[in-house]
Amino acid sequence: MPSRLIAVSNRIPAGEPPSGGLVVALKDALALSGGLWIGAHPETGTGREPLEEIQDNGNTHLAFRLSEDDLSDYYLGYANSVLWPLCHRRVDLIDMSAAFEARYRAVNARVGRMIASIARPEDVIWVHDYHFFPLASELRALGLSNRIGFFLHIPFPELGSLSVLSQPEDFSDWLASYNLVGLQTRADVARCLEVYRADPRAEFLVDGSVKFEDRVTEIRSFPIGIDVEDFRTQAARDAPDPFGRAAPESFVIGVDRLDYSKGIPNRFRAFGRYLETRPEGSYPCLVQIAPPTREQVQAYQDITSELEEIAGHLNGAFAELDWVPIRYIHRSIDRTVLARLHRRARVCAVTSIADGMNLVAKEFVAAQDPADPGVLILSRFAGAAEDMTDALLVNPYDIDDMTEAYRRAFAMPLEERQARHTACMEVVQRTDAASWAKQFLAVLRACVPTLPRQVPS
Ligand code: ADP
Ligand code: F6P
Repeated sequence: MPSRLIAVSNRIPAGEPPSGGLVVALKDALALSGGLWIGAHPETGTGREPLEEIQDNGNTHLAFRLSEDDLSDYYLGYANSVLWPLCHRRVDLIDMSAAFEARYRAVNARVGRMIASIARPEDVIWVHDYHFFPLASELRALGLSNRIGFFLHIPFPELGSLSVLSQPEDFSDWLASYNLVGLQTRADVARCLEVYRADPRAEFLVDGSVKFEDRVTEIRSFPIGIDVEDFRTQAARDAPDPFGRAAPESFVIGVDRLDYSKGIPNRFRAFGRYLETRPEGSYPCLVQIAPPTREQVQAYQDITSELEEIAGHLNGAFAELDWVPIRYIHRSIDRTVLARLHRRARVCAVTSIADGMNLVAKEFVAAQDPADPGVLILSRFAGAAEDMTDALLVNPYDIDDMTEAYRRAFAMPLEERQARHTACMEVVQRTDAASWAKQFLAVLRACVPTLPRQVPS
């Protein structure tokens, strides 16, 4: 039997324009390498249904149903109110609950049983993101000896913060059941190794992998990327101006799920400060596209209100009858329109306080006209900043620093814009979606297989 690729992620594409890095990148990568994609059905059920086929623009994926309780305690609860703030350095926003943790473990156990029922011994299993840290442990407990890889799309947590978990020692144990753990950046790898260094059960082998009890895991960085040619082509398409008659003179673009990790309030505040000191006679805009996400979680409701307040305040203070400085769209938009907006923008602002990679930064660079490119303002805390050092790097906590970046970006001479863009584009092309998946899978396939475990009779 040929070896199939089984990819598992909580979110799978289901018709809507995708607005999360995982789906965007994996869609591009799986389109090239093929394979089964398993994830949560967009509609809830009893939580006991078998895997079902689901259609997405001509592609078939497999979906498991979450019950309403799974959705609130596993997805909104443990995944997005404990692990997400933990990994994005907002431990103050963590909402601990024993029910969340129990449900997280139960969903992982159930998804594990479903995968075990369809996986053949020669299949390679690729698990994605923080929703499924324990999935390989579950699969190993069911007797699977397949090569199983894990890729974490978000920042790896800091050792000190892991103590907020009820059983922090489980964390290294969960990861040790994978043959390969892929992380976005070298800094993430360093944080992961620090966790193992602090664990007396771990031993470092000469090839750099970690031996944990009887299991060996490789830990490496694989910076994620986009389908560059596809995005570039969409951006350069000859189509009507997406702004129609209301085209702004010159604008900054921001595109993010409305998440507190994206640092959007300070991006707005810095833009407000820039407006105070901008060159006379200039009428710049900030076009912010921020679709809602995880709206039932209090922290997301708070950030939505905060942003609406800042946008309203700035427009009230600066707008004129024929100019509105902040255009804020609180929904997803079509990717082809998005690509053309990026190309029209003079500046893109990515100001995350923590971010696995940030694909928006790569999309903006890919969309530019190399003869007259826009400028990328990029937070030092986004994974993308590790390699894209020719962007205008900023500290998202420092409003003055970002105000100065807006000033520099709008005033930057063509030659400097071109030089910075060429350097960033080289990174975007070198780390595209196809090479990300290809490199990860090549390393996973070369890993030493795990010995079958004794299944209790
Ligand atoms: P995250 O995974 O945290 O959401 P990324 O920047 O890595 O952040 O990925 C976000 C992806 O979702 C990008 O491909 C971006 O273009 C897309 N996206 C974000 N907001 C929108 C939107 N309003 N409409 C369409 N696509 C969006
Ligand atoms: O890329 C990070 C990520 O959290 C993915 O895991 C997730 O699919 C995406 O952002 C969007 O979040 P959600 O699936 O909760 O809408």
